[in-house]
Amino acid sequence: VFEPRNILVTGGCGFIGANFVRYVARNHPHVHITVLDKLTYAGNPENIAGLPPSQVDLVVGDICDVALLERIVPGHDAIVHFAAESHNDNSIANPEPFIRTNVEGTMRLLEAARKHDVRFHHISTDEVYGDLALDDPARFTEDTPYHPSSPYSASKASSDHLVRAWVRTYGLRATISNCSNNYGPYQHVEKFIPRQITSIMEGARPKLYGTGENVRDWIHTEDHSRAVWAILTRGRIGETYLIGADGEMSNIAVLRMILRLMGQPEDAFDWVRDRPGHDRRYAIDASKLRAELGWSPMHTDFAGGLRNVIDWYAEHRDWWAPAKEATEARYRAQGQ
Ligand code: NAD
Ligand code: DAU
Repeated sequence: VFEPRNILVTGGCGFIGANFVRYVARNHPHVHITVLDKLTYAGNPENIAGLPPSQVDLVVGDICDVALLERIVPGHDAIVHFAAESHNDNSIANPEPFIRTNVEGTMRLLEAARKHDVRFHHISTDEVYGDLALDDPARFTEDTPYHPSSPYSASKASSDHLVRAWVRTYGLRATISNCSNNYGPYQHVEKFIPRQITSIMEGARPKLYGTGENVRDWIHTEDHSRAVWAILTRGRIGETYLIGADGEMSNIAVLRMILRLMGQPEDAFDWVRDRPGHDRRYAIDASKLRAELGWSPMHTDFAGGLRNVIDWYAEHRDWWAPAKEATEARYRAQGQ
């Protein structure tokens, strides 16, 4: 068992990174956390506000900044790498920052970890495997071939390959996890679930892409955090673990559930232009994680989880309202 004392969390002011920082601060109070975050449009220091200053430090900076990494990486015993450009639609509009942050940034971190012999955990996505047909009984496993569809997923696939190369060539102590779609508090309003919830709160109609039949495999972000901690501390070096909670659901079913929970008619939404290259279905087989590390999800009631998320957005209007208009303006320009 690896017992980290001083971890560097990249992207810790984003949705999943911040939830992970909060999870570690709450459950492992002896662990010091340095957050490295560039505070792009997706990063918000409020996401980690209120944590003990003796336990959590924020360094505002870019993972591509070699001199900065040289200054802050030494002294940490692990890097947990969440920082990324994360939104498919943005990557279709402008791929460049995705290559820079997700590919070059990961390479810079790997080099720093190698130089200072730091344990590395890479956060990745199930999208690297491409998509499955709606009626295919198969699910993704650690052996599924890479087949990314969007500039975003191709950049994450590249970063996974870099991590594997650093393990094999340089003996870096690294692990990778590929997780399915997360939901929970602090998710940016550009993403599907928060976009629809906050639109309804503003009296606007939700927007469903294409046929709405596309399937995503939903997991609560806290279950993702628990899995990452298990892999960081007990995972085998060089291994990849898939993280998923058997939460497959079509977009239209999720949207109808949100509408119902918010007291709206089930057809109170607009059909809009489909995402180019839209992946049909993701589905994770997390048997390896369950069997090897004894992990299982705690949030198994999706409707109950959605209700909590709706309540969270109702109570945190000040947090999301400033980003809402600019986000919707971007979507309008794309006909979505
Ligand atoms: P997010 O967009 O909410 O947050 C990304 C964070 O990274 C932001 O705080 C941003 O400021 C920071 N960042 C971006 N570029 C940076 C740079 N160059 N240097 C330093 N910081 C930078 O993303 P998220 O949804 O929380 O995703 C986090 C990670 O999890 C990503 O690696 C993503 O690929 C992966 N992932 C996400 C999901 C999901 O459902 N959202 C599922 C599986 C995996
Ligand atoms: O599978 C993991 C991935 O999940 C992560 O790697 C990504 O970082 C994360 O953004 C997410 O990608 P998706 O593309 O699946 O998530 P998004 O929230 O953008 O969209 C979810 C589904 O909903 C997708 O099929 C597109 C659809 N959609 C999305 C929006 C924003 C709509 O129908 N309407 C919308 O307004």
